[in-house]
Amino acid sequence: MAKVLEPRLRGETPWFDGDVPPEQVPEKYRLARAYVPKDRYLDPEFQKLELERVFGRAWLMACRLEELPGVGCFVEYEIGSHSILIVRESKDSIRAYHNACRHRGTRLARGRGRVGSLICPFHGWRWNLDGSIRLVLDREEFVPRSDDDLGLVQVRAEQWGGFVFITMDPDARPLLEYLDPIPRIFAPFQFEHMRYRWMKGVILPCNWKTALDGFLEAYHVPGTHPQLFRFDKSNTNIASLKELENRVWSPTTAYERHAHYSSVGKKKSEVTEDSAKDPSVRDTEGVTDERLSVALAVQYIADDMRGLENERSRRAAEALKTAEVPEGMTAGQYFMQLYRDLSIAEGYDWPDITPEQWAEAGTAWNVFPNTILLPNQGSVFGYRARPNGNDPDSCLFEIFSLDQIPVADYDKKTDFQPEFFEDFRDADLGEIFTQDLMNAKEVTVGMHSPSFDGHRLSEEQEMTIYNHHRVADRFLWRD
Ligand code: FES
Ligand SMILES: [Fe+2]
Repeated sequence: MAKVLEPRLRGETPWFDGDVPPEQVPEKYRLARAYVPKDRYLDPEFQKLELERVFGRAWLMACRLEELPGVGCFVEYEIGSHSILIVRESKDSIRAYHNACRHRGTRLARGRGRVGSLICPFHGWRWNLDGSIRLVLDREEFVPRSDDDLGLVQVRAEQWGGFVFITMDPDARPLLEYLDPIPRIFAPFQFEHMRYRWMKGVILPCNWKTALDGFLEAYHVPGTHPQLFRFDKSNTNIASLKELENRVWSPTTAYERHAHYSSVGKKKSEVTEDSAKDPSVRDTEGVTDERLSVALAVQYIADDMRGLENERSRRAAEALKTAEVPEGMTAGQYFMQLYRDLSIAEGYDWPDITPEQWAEAGTAWNVFPNTILLPNQGSVFGYRARPNGNDPDSCLFEIFSLDQIPVADYDKKTDFQPEFFEDFRDADLGEIFTQDLMNAKEVTVGMHSPSFDGHRLSEEQEMTIYNHHRVADRFLWRD
């Protein structure tokens, strides 16, 4: 297995220079070629280590800037036993603090809100937004302590693409370096000019990684979403062998920390060595009018997932149905042109994304450790998962949809409230997500079976999952 040291890999079990040698990993957690033992999911001890060493050291996506529109706005980010407040300290500065009073430890604030200063709900000590102590009632009665000692304890917070990331490791490398190569590859998609359309959090009966794994490969599409390419979307019967002949193929690529998969076309007929994601390629099986085939595929995603597509791409798809497609263009290419023209006419920037840039961007990325981002033009999706308490079989899973905003609104403040549902069936997530989330419980129950020992992964289409564990080993077993 210890073979390839290149920065990118496709179709092999990833191994990078500086990885932790397998013999340094306790046997029950030890990875093997395209194999992940189940104790990395089911063992509470392992989750304890993850919370301490992975979540405690990595950069974590905590919120987006639009959640902190004004000075004094804060968002609470909880991870394991930590609660962290992310605060807009001034127009241009965001800070993060451990959410604990310096007097007797009380949690200072919950959820989200806006304050002039941070005030402890117990005895009313106060802090300025920059974390400095402002008021200690009857301070003369206390042992003299410096203002420094009484200031809130800061957590590192840095930004990229409109996201605020935090890390509890004071020695962590800078965020942009940690995220490499994502900032470079995502640049044309302009995440910073996107805003939340919606975000829904649910509790899932599975490990936090199981929740993410289901979105880190498209190998499950024929099995879980058989209707996806059908004309009749209400037909969710198991895919026939004939339909499987037409399955799409989604190879994975691993980088030193992050990894992605890329849906590149139909495995049997269309895929060649250098096939890559192409936004103009979409279709609906059995629909002979190419325009309708593309339009229905776009509109199903727009209507069912309420993300990745938006209201403009939906209208462009509608126009495509009856449009005259110019000579030399496919219906999919013409769709992209209609979408572009509509966007520009309505005041949206339309960065030209080259085929090479689409190819590098692929379909979905694991931003190590617990976030997934799907770059796309105009609208994107993201997922985030966190352990729920100490139970390795329960997690908080969040799905969010971001939409590009018109150029004129770049400085406009928005008001945003995420939603939370105890049960994902109450969250109105549409057919596709519901199918995905239904798997969570089944995977967990099956993994607990004494007959099951670990994941046997595809070296082509599931190395995103493996890669997470490989990177986690670096955090887990190194001082
Ligand atoms: S615990 Fe916060 S002021 Fe006393
Ligand atoms: Fe899925």
